[in-house]
Amino acid sequence: MSVPTAPETLSIESIRSRLVSPTIARQLNLFGEVSSTNAALRQLAAAGAAEGTVVLAETQTAGRGRMGQMWFSPPEVNLYASVLFRGSLALAQAPVFSLIAGLALSDAVAEFGALPVIKWPNDVLVDGRKIGGALAECSSHEGKVEYLILGVGVNLNVEPDALRAALGSAADAATSLCAATGRTVDRSAFAAAYLNALETWTWRFRAQGPAAVLAGWRDRDFLTGRRVEIRGHGVPIIGRVSGLDEQGHLIVRGSLGERRVVSTEEICFCD
Ligand code: BTN
Repeated sequence: MSVPTAPETLSIESIRSRLVSPTIARQLNLFGEVSSTNAALRQLAAAGAAEGTVVLAETQTAGRGRMGQMWFSPPEVNLYASVLFRGSLALAQAPVFSLIAGLALSDAVAEFGALPVIKWPNDVLVDGRKIGGALAECSSHEGKVEYLILGVGVNLNVEPDALRAALGSAADAATSLCAATGRTVDRSAFAAAYLNALETWTWRFRAQGPAAVLAGWRDRDFLTGRRVEIRGHGVPIIGRVSGLDEQGHLIVRGSLGERRVVSTEEICFCD
């Protein structure tokens, strides 16, 4: 089935009219083209931008994914958004923000009619294929976070052919919200849904601590109980995921029952 994908531009007014969040997106910056919204927001952060400042772009020329990968960022079809966090946060708590991004993204995806799960730490999947993910980057000093930037990229209306042309066979593992639901997505409405959900989860984290985030995350956890291959430095490790620790790291049991704590490596699921 071919779904019409009338290109429309993102609109600050349209996003703002839907926002219920008091902190996030008080400063909303929309660019036509940037190298990376995370990089653009980092410059604003270094110049003193306030907590909750958002950078959105219609396209990125050097969008970055996790593990040093590029993030395909075609113009006027998807969402590329970065949000700035400040305030008292220990460096050890930063990984929880990575989980918060996945939760907020999956809330927004569900609001638009799909059934998302989260592959640790924040890949949002629908029907086993990735719709979006997040890249958390922070600047720290003496164990404290100075600021943290949470950038998300979400495939909303990108055509399957464009994904295939850009990603090759890796496109088999990717999809878009439009393809998953059969409906063209109003990108400004989606951006607002994401920012509202992000505010909710951040508030929960600040009020109730990481346990509240971890509990929500476990409800959508795709990996626990699955066999995985961990590709980090050195020889890959095969094991079974047994859950998350209290800081949001992934716990994997090796074939001899040994416990491995995974923080940054690439996870591929085997079954
Ligand atoms: C992943 O690898 O799954 C994370 C992808 C994160 C991409 C987003 S797009 C907006 C922000 N700016 C970037 O350069 N990267 C993130």
